[in-house]
Amino acid sequence: MWKVFITREIPAAGIDLLKKAGLQVEVYPHDQPIPESLLLEKIRDCDALLSMVTDPISAALIERAGQLKIIANYAVGYNNIDLQAARQQGIVVTNTPDVLTEATADLAFALILACARRVVEGDQLVRQGNFTGWSPLMMLGADVSGQAIGIIGAGRIGTALARRAYGFGMNIFYADSVINKLIENEYRAQKKELDELVRTADFISLHVTLTEFTRHLIDEKRLQRMKDTAFLINTSRGAVIDEQALVRALANKTIAGAGLDVYEREPLLAQGLADFKNVVLLPHLGSATLRTREKMAELAAQNIIAVASGKPAPNAVQK
Ligand code: DGY
Repeated sequence: MWKVFITREIPAAGIDLLKKAGLQVEVYPHDQPIPESLLLEKIRDCDALLSMVTDPISAALIERAGQLKIIANYAVGYNNIDLQAARQQGIVVTNTPDVLTEATADLAFALILACARRVVEGDQLVRQGNFTGWSPLMMLGADVSGQAIGIIGAGRIGTALARRAYGFGMNIFYADSVINKLIENEYRAQKKELDELVRTADFISLHVTLTEFTRHLIDEKRLQRMKDTAFLINTSRGAVIDEQALVRALANKTIAGAGLDVYEREPLLAQGLADFKNVVLLPHLGSATLRTREKMAELAAQNIIAVASGKPAPNAVQK
């Protein structure tokens, strides 16, 4: 019987599917990342690993996982997995695309609105008993409608964000290595060179996967190129931004603020980042709706079941 090890409790929908397919399932019972030594022990005799973004699946671990056939990552991103090592061992790696697209785009837009309209700051002011009545100059924010959004990475989530931005009457720019006809035709998006987009957008939202090419894509120079009225939004991976350079840009007021859901050394924040009122910080909630997380669990399970039945995994990430 195929053995599946799941590194964290996930919605029952996925676990039920695995059990119904006759697979034996073990779940790490603590709501924190499993220590690597224990993970190694657990997966030694497992056929499938259902891993989280918080589990670094290194080459060392993969090489010692004797009979592993599939790593089903419970995320669309898979930068936590050494793909090359998995390929060398003939292990299939899968992710959970599509099902979290809308939820993540919603959260990116929530950060845009929260930053522009100072939603978190306003909430704090009221809770702290400092709301003494309406005032014409109180907490003035930035417009969203009519402003330019720059979407870096116009894949599934970037496209879904463009749809929201179009609904808000924003001008849409995007930077990507390929042309996205859909957003150009449907949402009047314009493709721009990355540096031109950075220089001209009022809101910059990141939707690239983390690779050696996108690490610190938003570095000191690009932060300096941004308008001092522009906001930087990140729901992709923290390390796409040089977080220390971001703290300097915020301190020097070279940008207007930032809305972040992900961090370079997650869950740690760069020193000083939490001190800025014009920064909205969320705890990696992009896909965190109940239904989305259920769908992710089902999709990860379906990938494992496919491989266990000798079929190709529907969401294999390797070429
Ligand atoms: C992802 O899917 O990559 C998110 O970051 C975790 O849900």
